[in-house]
Amino acid sequence: MNKVQLAVIGAGVIGRTHIDRIGRSGNLVLAAIADPTDSGKALAESLGVPWFADPRAMLDTARPQGAIVATPNATHVDVATACLQRGVPALVEKPIADTVAEAQALIDAEQRFKTPVLVGHHRRHNPILRRAREIVQSGRLGQLVSATALATFLKPDAYFDVAWRRQAGGGPILINLIHDIDMLRFLLGEIASVQAVSSHQARGFEVEDTAAAVMRFASGAIGTVLVSDAATSPWCWDFCAGEQGQYPRQNVQTHFISGTHGSMSLPDLDLWNYRGERSWHAEMTQERSAVHQADPYTGQLQHFRAVIEGREAPLCSALDGLRTLQATLAVREAAQSGQAVQLAG
Ligand SMILES: NC(=O)c1ccc[n+]([C@@H]2O[C@H](COP(=O)([O-])OP(=O)(O)OC[C@H]3O[C@@H](n4cnc5c(N)ncnc54)[C@H](O)[C@@H]3O)[C@@H](O)[C@H]2O)c1
Repeated sequence: MNKVQLAVIGAGVIGRTHIDRIGRSGNLVLAAIADPTDSGKALAESLGVPWFADPRAMLDTARPQGAIVATPNATHVDVATACLQRGVPALVEKPIADTVAEAQALIDAEQRFKTPVLVGHHRRHNPILRRAREIVQSGRLGQLVSATALATFLKPDAYFDVAWRRQAGGGPILINLIHDIDMLRFLLGEIASVQAVSSHQARGFEVEDTAAAVMRFASGAIGTVLVSDAATSPWCWDFCAGEQGQYPRQNVQTHFISGTHGSMSLPDLDLWNYRGERSWHAEMTQERSAVHQADPYTGQLQHFRAVIEGREAPLCSALDGLRTLQATLAVREAAQSGQAVQLAG
């Protein structure tokens, strides 16, 4: 089997997760690491792969077949554009960019250089979410009417020792809620408008610690999302979906989708409907459907391999990344202004 050569640009927390999964894959090879830090260099040495301080020098010398851009958000578009210019497909970590204008610049570069971008909204590669999408698209729930997502958890005080995490933009809307918004877009389609409130009452930092949003989907369905990093609470996808070994696992549900003919909770994928009379006085049927657990980071890399080989289109395109970013920024804007934010279709 042909092994696909991948470079990792940015060998921090998530870069190392990708490096680990490449090492376990059997059909991917780590071609090089680009990261200016001593720890990046030390990691490359320990793995016996070429190290570069500069991503462009790495791309020109190591000539990987694909590159993973796992650098800080503000550098995503610059680094990913350098990949595309050289015809190297890029898996760009989420969020695709800091601003919608930058995200659009990456979409333009993707078209100009005819080289694909896959955005790293890894939850899309969880089989639970894939099955949930199949159930929604099969019509079993009827016409979608509502969705609720909960993302409430407690970050330890030490997390906030880093200054940017206490400042605007460093909070749970852009860091955490963006994942849940991408999930809802994946399941229910485009978001047309957003209203929101936020609070920094619990921690007292400049940045929000809690936020809630109401969104209207283009389909007409209505969604609510709630995020807090100051809540002693188990209701968070990372705790219950089996994706993140670093958190104790909880047997709870976090996402609730309802239609005129049925409802579904996630991650347990339980389905609720009426077999006979359709009325709140009648008994409901609860159906359980099991899916195999699978690591979404591994699934995402195998999909990236297929994108590089031209066998699959990106499951999370640059346009998807832009729309998810736009809806997430809209939550912040709506909370600040107190006004509904309309999103372009
Ligand atoms: N999908 C996920 O589950 C997930 C999880 C965590 C982080 N992320 C995203 O991944 C990105 C990185 O987050 P992190 O937590 O790994 O950050 P991090 O700070 O741990 O790592 C970033 C690394 O990039 C390096 N770097 C900075 N500028 C560079 C450049 N121009 N060229 C090469 N290397 C450069 C830094 O030296 C550092 O090692 C962020 O966009 C974040 O939102 C995604």
